[in-house]
Amino acid sequence: MKIISDPFMLKEHLKKSNKSIGFVPTMGALHEGHISLIKKARQENEIVVVSIFVNPTQFLAGEDLERYPKKDDADKKICELAGVDILFFPSIENIYTKDEAKVCAPNLRGYVLEGASRPGHFSGVLTVVMKLLHIVSPARAYFGKKDAQQLNLISLMVKQFFMDVQIVPVDIVRDSDGLALSSRNVYLSKTQRAEALKIPKSLYAASKLISKNIFDAQKIKEEICSILDPLEIEYVEVLSRDFTAIEKVEIGNTIILVEVLVGKTRLLDNIWL
Ligand code: PAJ
Repeated sequence: MKIISDPFMLKEHLKKSNKSIGFVPTMGALHEGHISLIKKARQENEIVVVSIFVNPTQFLAGEDLERYPKKDDADKKICELAGVDILFFPSIENIYTKDEAKVCAPNLRGYVLEGASRPGHFSGVLTVVMKLLHIVSPARAYFGKKDAQQLNLISLMVKQFFMDVQIVPVDIVRDSDGLALSSRNVYLSKTQRAEALKIPKSLYAASKLISKNIFDAQKIKEEICSILDPLEIEYVEVLSRDFTAIEKVEIGNTIILVEVLVGKTRLLDNIWL
């Protein structure tokens, strides 16, 4: 595995290879969720590039940028074992200069749900993903369904900017207790982790209602909220796959999304129906 930090060197290196490139952008502290993206990329492409970059522009003031978990050595090992060809490991200066052009998240879709509690977050995400996609020029780029709004906004950006890359969604990977894996789970104390299990439980209860032919969005949201109680709920939404509100679940075209604060840790989860 080659480790490259300079974007221009990476571009030069990839240009020579003339092979299909699969790309997995990450912020490190890799877990099985990231590994499943890498595995899918490995199956579908000749070259796999993973980036590890804790992108400062997607953190708001007062968020966890400084304490975001760092596991550089373990991450390198994980990538090597997963068959990654190139690990792109840039510094902040490799990616950003002063007074730059930026991508702005859409005014509506970028400022609802997670964008409402973190205004500006998605502009940071889209800007860095735009840069990374231009550096790597992959045939396919892999993103987790766990960050469903991020996946939706990136898919829209790629379409609206006429970019030549296929965005591949990858299913959520969960711990054995049902909690969706996240680099931020390390922030949870034992008690908080036990409380956080209400999140997958609430989504499971929602899917049970739906299996009993209860499709009413309001009823489903009430069921989820009652299970999440007394956690601090940021939102519970029943949306179509293109992220518009719906009154009734349509099988094959629905996402139920939950965002909850456990202590100071923001946890996201969702199910695709
Ligand atoms: P990060 O949180 O490191 O996640 C990297 C990728 O892994 C994202 O596409 C995310 O959706 C996916 N992922 C995380 N947990 C997952 C899980 N449990 N199951 C499946 N996939 C999972 O998301 C980011 O980084 C950043 O915003 C980034 C896109 C890299 C831009 O900075």
